[in-house]
Amino acid sequence: MIVEAVESLLTHCPSRWRRLGYAYAAVACSARARRRTAAWAPHQQRTRSAILAAAARCAQKRTVLILGSGPLNDVPLIDLLAQFQRVILADVAHPPAARMAARRWPAVSLATVELTGLSGPLLDPVGEHPPVPAVSAAFLDQADIDLVVSCNLASQLPLIPLARASRRWPSLDEEALGHAIVAAHLAHLRRFRGEVLLICDVVRAVFDPSGGLERQDDPLYGVPLPEGEEWEWDLAPPGELSSGHSVMTRVRAVRLSEPAKAATSAESHCVGTEPGVESPDR
Ligand SMILES: C[S@@+](CC[C@H](N)C(=O)[O-])C[C@H]1O[C@@H](n2cnc3c(N)ncnc32)[C@H](O)[C@@H]1O
Repeated sequence: MIVEAVESLLTHCPSRWRRLGYAYAAVACSARARRRTAAWAPHQQRTRSAILAAAARCAQKRTVLILGSGPLNDVPLIDLLAQFQRVILADVAHPPAARMAARRWPAVSLATVELTGLSGPLLDPVGEHPPVPAVSAAFLDQADIDLVVSCNLASQLPLIPLARASRRWPSLDEEALGHAIVAAHLAHLRRFRGEVLLICDVVRAVFDPSGGLERQDDPLYGVPLPEGEEWEWDLAPPGELSSGHSVMTRVRAVRLSEPAKAATSAESHCVGTEPGVESPDR
């Protein structure tokens, strides 16, 4: 508890996003990663390898943008620094590991962004209707980005908005909002010109305390993904959850740059206001 309290204090997260629970979620995720080092290691290694394989496909290596950089457990930062002139770590909350990296290496910069654009409407006390997610334009003006990685982020994007919106609008169509959030993220990724890699979980299997399969959830709310390399992530092994359940998730690494770049009709229906972006900080 003390470690988490200190980590929360040292996590950079603007107060409006902290109020929504983003700093708390980041600290909770880091704590689980620490508790489950061995169980998470194979997934983290596969993620790093997929990122380095995408880097190897880049003709030019000026800037790499990591969306959902978090505590950098999945990010092969040293290898990327050896290859690219600049590394942008983008997240709604920057834990101490990311802040220390930015202090240590001048080529690393932090960008504090909320990629769904829903935080403003969710914090608006008089909003009458559930918000509609926007397709972000974040970083699209930076022509020197040669590699974009969405790093175990896509399935996280709906979590806080759905929890908040369903409390406030009890008749909310959660499936529709979750779908729109994920689709908007994919549409954003597909607007970059360089190499684009999406790594995210695609099936989440929940097991009961006796080890039997209880249900399978779609963390992407029905948004289709192109094929890609897949692996298992032992997200919550037995003993992690107080309910006695365990969770295994299937992760896919998808190359969204050519040739799999054609947008789906679902993605083209996302409209809304521009997601929140703060100027890069260190
Ligand atoms: C599973 S963690 C990613 C782990 C990270 N890639 C690593 O290497 O350790 C998901 C990340 O998504 C970030 N995130 C969640 N919702 C976000 C949002 N709306 N905008 C930007 N980042 C968000 C979280 O803060 C968290 O760091």
